[in-house]
Amino acid sequence: MTPTAPGIELRQVTQRYGGPGAPLVLKAIDVVIPKGTITTFLGPSGCGKTTLLRLIAGLDAPVSGRILIDGQDVTDRGPAERNVCMVFQNYALFPHLSVIGNVGYGLSVSGVPRDETRQRAQAALASVGLAGLDQRLPGELSGGQQQRVALARALVLEPSAMLFDEPLSNLDARLRRSMRQEIRQLQQRLGLTVAYVTHDQGEALAVSDQVIVMQAGTIAQAGSPRDLYERPASLFVAGFLGEALSFDAVARADGTVRIGTLTLRAAPPLLAAGPVKVAVRPQAWQIAAPGEGLAGRVIDCAYLGSHLELSVDTALGVLLVIAGDVSQDWRPGQDIGLTLGERGVSIVAASG
Ligand SMILES: Nc1ncnc2c1ncn2[C@@H]1O[C@H](COP(=O)(O)OP(=O)(O)O)[C@@H](O)[C@H]1O
Ligand SMILES: [Mg+2]
Repeated sequence: MTPTAPGIELRQVTQRYGGPGAPLVLKAIDVVIPKGTITTFLGPSGCGKTTLLRLIAGLDAPVSGRILIDGQDVTDRGPAERNVCMVFQNYALFPHLSVIGNVGYGLSVSGVPRDETRQRAQAALASVGLAGLDQRLPGELSGGQQQRVALARALVLEPSAMLFDEPLSNLDARLRRSMRQEIRQLQQRLGLTVAYVTHDQGEALAVSDQVIVMQAGTIAQAGSPRDLYERPASLFVAGFLGEALSFDAVARADGTVRIGTLTLRAAPPLLAAGPVKVAVRPQAWQIAAPGEGLAGRVIDCAYLGSHLELSVDTALGVLLVIAGDVSQDWRPGQDIGLTLGERGVSIVAASG
C-alpha cells in the first residue's frame, strides 16, 4: 500500500431521487479520498452531502457512475458487503442495550464468539476513552459519551472506511470542539479512511486533510484547508469558508488590480486584464492614518477581547473590519484610512 493509494473513490457519480424527470442531486462527481486520510464534505443544506455518503455506504445505488473502496468496485454490492461504517448525528444507539451490548452488537450478529466480542468491544470502548462504563444504558450517558459509544460501535468492526454525517451537530459548542479533536486524533492513530460531512466551516478546517466544498450537487473546489481558505476559486467558496465581502474590480495589464480608489499590488500572475471580483476577509483590512488608502469613517467599534470589530463607512459601502490590535480605541465618527494586506484577499474570475 502506497501512502497515496485511494481509500474511497467516486467516478462520475450521478444521483437523483425519483424517475428520469427528477432533478439531479449529484452531477457526475469525481472524488478521491486517499487511504488513511480524512476528507470533509462541506456545503449548505441540500447540496447533496448525505446523498453522497449514502452512496458510499451502499444504502442507495447511484443512477450512474462507479464507487470503489480500497481499489475494489463495490457499486453493485450491498451495505453489508462493503466493510464501511456510518456514524449518524443522532447516534442511533439501542436504548435497552448496555454500552457494551451496543458496541458488541455488530460482532455478535455476524457470529463472532462471545468472549472475543466482549474483548474487542472493551478494546474499542477503551480507544474512545470509555473504559469502565460497559454496563450503563445509553440514557445514563451524556451526549458526548453517547457519541463516543456510537464511534466505538463503528470502530469495533474494523471498517475499511468510516463515514460521519454531521456527527457533532447535537452537541454544544465546547463539546463539539473537543470531540472533533478526538475524532481527528483517533483517525490519525488508527490510520482510518474517513469521509466526514459537515456544514460547519470551522469543523471542516480543523479536522481535514482535504476539504471538498459542494454546491448544488457539484464540487465547487477541493483542496487542503489552507488552499481553500487562502486561495478560494470562487466567491461561493470564499464566502462559505468564512466571512468575505466581494467587490467588483478591474485587473490591469501592469499586474495590479483596482477596487474603487484602492490599488492592489499583489495580483497573481497570468491574470487577464479586465473585470474581476475580489473577495476580502474582514481581517485583511488594515487601519491607517486618514488620507492613506481608502477613506473611511468609523460607525461603531466593539471590543471582543481577542480583537476589535469595526463597522466603517466607505465609498465601497459599510465594511466590517476585524483588527487584531486591541490596544487602540476607535470612536464613532473618527476618520481613518483602510489599506489591504496580502492575506485574506482573493482575486477570482468575474463570473465566480
Ligand atoms: N429521500 C429523498 N427523496 C427525495 N428527495 C430527497 C431525498 N433525500 C434528499 N433529497 C433531496 O436531495 C437534495 C440533497 O439532499 P441531501 O443529500 O440530504 O443534502 P445535504 O445532506 O447536503 O443537506 C435536497 O434537495 C433534498 O431535498
Ligand atoms: Mg445531510
